[in-house]
Amino acid sequence: MQPITANLLDWYDSHHRILPWRISPREQKAGKAVDPYRIWLSEIMLQQTTVEAVKPYFNAFVEKWPTVKDLAAASQDAVLRAWAGLGYYSRARNLKKCADAVCADHGGSFPSDINGLKSLPGIGDYTAAAIASIAFNRPVAVVDGNVERVISRLYAIDTPLPAAKSEIRARMQALTPDERPGDFAQAMMDLGATICTPKRPACFVCPVKEGCEALQTSDPELYPVKAAK
Ligand code: ADE
Repeated sequence: MQPITANLLDWYDSHHRILPWRISPREQKAGKAVDPYRIWLSEIMLQQTTVEAVKPYFNAFVEKWPTVKDLAAASQDAVLRAWAGLGYYSRARNLKKCADAVCADHGGSFPSDINGLKSLPGIGDYTAAAIASIAFNRPVAVVDGNVERVISRLYAIDTPLPAAKSEIRARMQALTPDERPGDFAQAMMDLGATICTPKRPACFVCPVKEGCEALQTSDPELYPVKAAK
């Protein structure tokens, strides 16, 4: 395991955000299982909506529909009503279609591999990777906007986005451990949301500052590099 990975997992153990869909490292050690349904639901809600806005909706959904079978048994109309206010309503229509497909074609359990997940309505590359990693412990690279920024800075990647995407994915894949890949993905997200922020990153408290090329050689705020207009 690379030092960056080990340091970030140590940091996550004590600094992870407490979110309603998360099982903390301590809970996982005590044997509490991650529920793929809750991970899927949270990832769909988080696609175009902030963590703070998602929390009450996520809690209301799992209260009303605790399992994917409950959601499949609900009417499209009831799901759309519960979604009201979150926006991007195609997500809610696909949510119901996906719950139906998991129950009709997969016996009520989410597939654990990327291709099986991507065959489901509303699940694209990012969401499939996030579910495979967080819910099923598959060591796949999970790359969202936060991760793009963190990786661009760690490796001082001078290629602008979107051209840098393949290099960023390869770097993230190389850092992703076989043990605790889901915690690692979420640690990268939390680092990007709380420390490695777009403006004025808090490098002085960063758990991976020693390994950050942008900090050691220039200015992290200059990354990711913007394409010339
Ligand atoms: N954004 C998307 N997925 C997330 C997750 N699992 N934790 C925190 N932020 C996220």
